[in-house]
Amino acid sequence: MVNHRGPEFKALLERVVSRLKRAFRTENDLVILTASGTGGLEAAVVNQLSAGDPVLSVSIGAFGDRFAKIAMRYGADVTKLDVEWGRAAEPDAVGEALAAMAAAGRGARAVLLTHNETSTGVTNPLEQLASVVRDAAPDALLIVDAISALGAVPFESDAWGLDVVVTGSQKSWMVPPGLAMISVSPRGWAAAERATMPRFYFDLAAHRDSLAKGETPWTPAVGICFALDVALEMLEAEGYERIFARHTACGAATRAGLEALGIELFADPRHASDTVTAARLPAGVEWSALNRELRGRGLVLAGGQGKLTGQIFRVGHLGAVTVDEILAALEILEQAGEALRLPTRRGGAAAAASAAADGRGRTAVPSA
Ligand SMILES: Cc1ncc(COP(=O)(O)O)c(C=O)c1O
Repeated sequence: MVNHRGPEFKALLERVVSRLKRAFRTENDLVILTASGTGGLEAAVVNQLSAGDPVLSVSIGAFGDRFAKIAMRYGADVTKLDVEWGRAAEPDAVGEALAAMAAAGRGARAVLLTHNETSTGVTNPLEQLASVVRDAAPDALLIVDAISALGAVPFESDAWGLDVVVTGSQKSWMVPPGLAMISVSPRGWAAAERATMPRFYFDLAAHRDSLAKGETPWTPAVGICFALDVALEMLEAEGYERIFARHTACGAATRAGLEALGIELFADPRHASDTVTAARLPAGVEWSALNRELRGRGLVLAGGQGKLTGQIFRVGHLGAVTVDEILAALEILEQAGEALRLPTRRGGAAAAASAAADGRGRTAVPSA
């Protein structure tokens, strides 16, 4: 370890922050918290809001629900727009919800949005949602959970007018969990000065002020910062356009391969995520039995969360992942289906997946 108040860490922190700003596509301040993604969401809420502030929370799944819960726990006056799980939020519905709040004399101070809902495998049309918010509630802060999207799919913090954007180290950034990265616009800082929700460890102004000296206010997870520095170098060497294309290819290959196996996809195909695919469990199998079979063959997938427990399973394809690895995962799924005598189809998944990937995303991620 290096001293986190010494010159080595200062250089590391400054390099990581400037690289992250390029990935966030922002000129705004960006700070790094030692916390998981949820800590980043909590920081976003408590630095921007006061108890009683009207907030619109747009939820399309379990993580959207969590975001709303954080705001409620700290006393915000939360109006929830609940979208059926598996679907994306409709920009018009968001505009109408904001208009209704304004008409009731409770104009939203902030809108909480999830970019990619990991529990359902749906990516919200964030650019369109942000634009509707800007029109319907020009003064509302746009606070975005971009935890499982940013760095893997196109994202424009400044061009889309996002005030606070949160991501987490274990997702597209390819490093262990433990860091939350968060950007704050000038409007966000002005709101933070007025916001009275309690905060200490997550006081973003303290982080901003320490960063000006090349430090963090509290001892950071130095080891993960080192890893992040290396990962960001790898990502920049590959180039974000190529990274986005690789995720598009992995998403398309996963969806086509699962369908070729006769497995029904869960998400609205118009908004299916390129970082995680949710699919319905084949008839006649418990998730625990399928999971055991897959793990025994070296494949780790995820089950459903919340009300989708026991109904779906999820394939993550975020970060250091290639189409070849998706083909290998499909092969294992096919073998597991055979072993469990599931009504899945044999053969054809790899060919369908390869065709869907269309030659993209096969090459390895550049190594450090
Ligand atoms: C969209 C989204 N939001 C929030 C979280 C919570 O992040 P963490 O588990 O790092 O606290 C996750 C984690 O998977 C997520 O995918």
